[in-house]
Amino acid sequence: MGKLLLAPMEGLADPLLRDLLTRVGGYDGAVTEFVRVSGSLLPLRTFRRIGPELANGSRTSSGTPMAVQLLGSDPACLAENAARLATLRPAGIDLNFGCPAPTVNRHGGGAMLLADPELLCRIASAVRRAVPAEIPFTAKMRLGVDDTEKTLDCARALEAGGIVNLVVHARTKAERYQPPAHWEWVARIREAVRLPVTANGEVWTVDDHARCRAVSGSADVMLGRGAVADPFLARHIRAGLAGESLPPGREADWQALLPLLAEYWLRVQQRVTAPHAPGRLKMWLALLRRTFPAGEALFQAVRTLRGVDEMTRVLRAHGVPLPLPAA
Ligand SMILES: Cc1cc2nc3c(=O)[nH]c(=O)nc-3n(C[C@H](O)[C@H](O)[C@H](O)COP(=O)(O)O)c2cc1C
Repeated sequence: MGKLLLAPMEGLADPLLRDLLTRVGGYDGAVTEFVRVSGSLLPLRTFRRIGPELANGSRTSSGTPMAVQLLGSDPACLAENAARLATLRPAGIDLNFGCPAPTVNRHGGGAMLLADPELLCRIASAVRRAVPAEIPFTAKMRLGVDDTEKTLDCARALEAGGIVNLVVHARTKAERYQPPAHWEWVARIREAVRLPVTANGEVWTVDDHARCRAVSGSADVMLGRGAVADPFLARHIRAGLAGESLPPGREADWQALLPLLAEYWLRVQQRVTAPHAPGRLKMWLALLRRTFPAGEALFQAVRTLRGVDEMTRVLRAHGVPLPLPAA
């Protein structure tokens, strides 16, 4: 059938959204937002904050295994932190070689490392030595910094470093998040290495998933923004692969989503301070509007709001089942 993984998305797929999306279902695994490693040995609480699922056997509340992602550029420091993380028994340890953020890249981390395949190999080898063999050790890369000149060398370097699975976000750093994703490059990487390769990038619909698998040749696919834009995407992909026909229209899905939006809104207010809460929900709605007409209407209704109470009022007026304040 092939695996479906929920992508790491810093600032978007936080523990709360991971919990909701994996509860809707269809995912074989998820990855945390990146944990930034720069120079020091992080306290255990940092890993636990980014991956509270670690306290639950490294599974989301619905039982989906969750790997923890590390981002850094120093082999020894990454290895030391990976060893510490391993004591918390994560379902996997993943290395980030794809982040295009200038603050991360200035320190030589994320996608900038793709300029130096030899360093990639040293990083992966050092972390491999530090992580017990029974914890799956994986990596996620883009195609390169500005071009695809070193793509295959990077993939081979990571394989030589001992990773057991490679997720390929099929774009260069320079391409950031612009469509298209070059799934054909995933196919080229698959020919260059022996390890399993997971395709990632621009899968928004059931049809995209089928085309991504056909072009990349990868059975396993990681869903990023598409998973947030359509919380039912993984489930519909699974149903389609099982030969079930999809329900017509999206109205039933939107109705099923309303209680999840209510839950998210209530829980996000506990997780972040009041001034930040509306922004978090707006980020989710900004993607949901791609899939659901009612999501577009709701997004437009809340986009200029800043206060928690007015957000709650407007959400309620749009059918989000939020409890009324006690009289
Ligand atoms: C808001 C946001 C945050 C992201 N954070 C991470 C991250 O922490 N680690 C990582 O490896 N990739 C991160 N990514 C990249 C995604 O995991 C994924 O590779 C990318 O979005 C392409 O997939 P998509 O087209 O399905 O969204 C992030 C992407 C977005 C949109």
